[in-house]
Amino acid sequence: MEHMKLILLGPPGAGKGTQAELISKRLGIPTISTGNILRAAVKDGTPIGLQAKAFMDAGKLVPDDVILGIVEERLSQPDCAKGYILDGVPRTIAQAESLNKAGVVFDAVLSIEVLDEEIEQRMTGRRTCTRCGASYHLTTKPPLKPGVCDTCGSELIQREDDKLETVARRLEVYRKETEPLKNYYTKHGNLKTIPNVGSIEAVNQEIMKVLGQ
Ligand code: AP5
Repeated sequence: MEHMKLILLGPPGAGKGTQAELISKRLGIPTISTGNILRAAVKDGTPIGLQAKAFMDAGKLVPDDVILGIVEERLSQPDCAKGYILDGVPRTIAQAESLNKAGVVFDAVLSIEVLDEEIEQRMTGRRTCTRCGASYHLTTKPPLKPGVCDTCGSELIQREDDKLETVARRLEVYRKETEPLKNYYTKHGNLKTIPNVGSIEAVNQEIMKVLGQ
């Protein structure tokens, strides 16, 4: 399908960013990751970054109005005319309804499943690029050169919110605020569940199959 418009849903560490990167390469459509956009804003010390930092470090959600401003601005850019992948947004029913009201439509909402016991291992092993936001894992997806991003050559770091206690808080927030979106998109959209089939590549094959690619 051309001009595909997708949402990636799933708990922290489900592999949304990892799969978004693969789908983006395979389908030639951009990814809009609110997490990456916010982390870049924090790094650059912009007004949005200053507002978002405390929420992010505590594992809480950034206020809906900030998120919607970011998404609408990004979607208005020309590269989104050929389709897009929303990674990590919407994250509340209110965000979903606002996008709907703004006329933002989707072909499919992919819910990536992962076992709770795997999440901890994924978070503690994750390393993230300080520049382009690409995500690696010390064992399941190591960079070619330790500590350096394959894509842009920048430094890889452990995210502030990947500490164990913050991960637990993020999971709690996910269950309360975001998981209800599965029911919402079962009723109002095209929810597709992607089972926890194993490796990054196996999950990607499952997604491509579900998308008919
Ligand atoms: P965000 O960056 O979106 O964090 P998240 O949803 O918690 O998701 P993660 O980035 O932790 O995980 P992921 O699913 O992308 O997994 P990844 O591919 O990296 O948001 C951060 C914060 O920003 C939020 O807490 C909030 O404060 C704020 N925010 C963002 N959006 C917001 C919104 N819409 N509203 C309000 N606030 C918002 O994979 C994880 C690791 O596992 C990696 O190391 C990867 O290599 C590895 N891995 C992936 N798949 C596999 C596999 N199949 N097998 C083995 N390893 C795997």
